[in-house]
Amino acid sequence: MEWWKTATIYQIYPRSFQDSNGDGIGDLEGVRSRLGYLKDLGVDAIWLSPFYRSPMKDFGYDVADYCDVDPIFGTLADFDRLLEDTHRLGLKLIIDLVPNHTSDQHPWFVESRSGLDNPKRDWYVWRDPAPDGGPPNNWMAFFGGPAWTLDERTGQYYLHQFLPEQPDLNWRNPAVRQAIYEVMRFWLRRGVDGFRVDVMWLLVEDALFRDEPENPHWQPGQWDRGRHLHLYTEDQPETRQIVGEMRQVLDEFDGDRMMVGEIYLPYERLMPYYGTPERPGCHLPFNFHLITQGLPNWTAENLRRVVEEYQASLPSWATPNWVLGNHDQHRLASRIGHAQARVAAMLLFTLPGSPTWYYGDEIGMVDGVIPPERVQDPAALRQRGVAGDQGLDPGRDPERTPMQWTPFAYAGFSTVEPWLPVNPDYPERNVESQDADPFSMLSLVRTLLVVRKATPGLLEAPYESYKAPEGVFAYLRGRVGLVALNFTGEPKTLAVPPGEILLSTHLDRYGVVENALELRPHEGIILKLS
Ligand code: NOJ
Repeated sequence: MEWWKTATIYQIYPRSFQDSNGDGIGDLEGVRSRLGYLKDLGVDAIWLSPFYRSPMKDFGYDVADYCDVDPIFGTLADFDRLLEDTHRLGLKLIIDLVPNHTSDQHPWFVESRSGLDNPKRDWYVWRDPAPDGGPPNNWMAFFGGPAWTLDERTGQYYLHQFLPEQPDLNWRNPAVRQAIYEVMRFWLRRGVDGFRVDVMWLLVEDALFRDEPENPHWQPGQWDRGRHLHLYTEDQPETRQIVGEMRQVLDEFDGDRMMVGEIYLPYERLMPYYGTPERPGCHLPFNFHLITQGLPNWTAENLRRVVEEYQASLPSWATPNWVLGNHDQHRLASRIGHAQARVAAMLLFTLPGSPTWYYGDEIGMVDGVIPPERVQDPAALRQRGVAGDQGLDPGRDPERTPMQWTPFAYAGFSTVEPWLPVNPDYPERNVESQDADPFSMLSLVRTLLVVRKATPGLLEAPYESYKAPEGVFAYLRGRVGLVALNFTGEPKTLAVPPGEILLSTHLDRYGVVENALELRPHEGIILKLS
């Protein structure tokens, strides 16, 4: 079976994982120095958020050179060493591909904006102003304000779904497609195992540039982009064709190269990104439903619904995938508390398919405390002053704080004050102390990953619903494994066939169960059925 069908992917935000050169910002050498930790943790693959040359307006999601490493993070030689060591340990490495937009400092955009007749003009999306001189249509950017910025010198507007410093590439232009496919080949030849593709569902916009209709549910003061229904800026039919082309590029290479696509869409519009068995598309279109629908209503009944609706919409041949956190979402433990974060980990690692885990969640890192004057996230900074915001919203910074390795200065992340403040809880919450504690969250995640690999049913067998009392979500994996998760603070009892406890989220309980499984408050159990 291809590795990515069951792989546990660990996301690293390189700025925040490990600083090796004392500048307060994480780097590739830092990641390399922690590979042993990741191997011991038991993950199978690493996804590295962007490390390319960038003015860092969106911390690397504004790429100025797709084929080089930003000096903040190191050099191409550092990357090669990291990749080699990752492979030596039997781990895979996937990297972020940001094809929707470049930095405004990318040479392609510098050329494109230099004149109406420049051969690269059509590499980006340029339009004449509306008759009143304003933007060509009503499209709004994700980070606030219109999705159009006027280039005074040439008198046209360019499109940007994110910051004005992140102009959108024109994916209708075949030369752009080929240029990005060459970027993919550049990294595939170097040996990467695949890509996490940024905003895959936003690559193409309506060819007629129609205004988007008003969203009747939007209230003044809410997020700008929520004003409209995104009929013309998201999920256009051409996008799936492009994904098919990206797949062909991956398939030019041997060794099961793959892609994970960032796609925030409901099931019926997400599934087509898998393609078909004859014309496959994205290997793993990210399933964000545990984040978007599960975390806000963390009950057994809601989670059962989210999981089973996804399973029911999934094509029979497609590989499921699950994720509970990333660099754009508040921390798992902050959203549901430490006791339930353990239940969440058992859920994630016992569902069929491929789970993705966000760095630091294995020690239960919580959202960081960011004083207003230290906010870095451009999305938050742009919203300041909008709709009465007092400038206190730290945006996505809280989930990007430095990894907490030790109880010592700067949590062992750096030797100087880091780019974002270290969480004040680091003296108690860090890898070193949890490593020494057999009941810690870290010990739980490690053990879960061992049990996952050692119990073939958990990796390969189909999911089957199992009846449980209110507050408990239970399921079978191939009639050999039963997972029972107590989402409440009350004890619960579940009727079960005879079996043996393989693991409790409390890490203190093994042995035989006859026909009634007593679950303690906030306890999850994996039972091996006899
Ligand atoms: C999605 C990324 O996850 C986010 O961090 C980034 O700001 C936008 N894409 C723009 O690239």
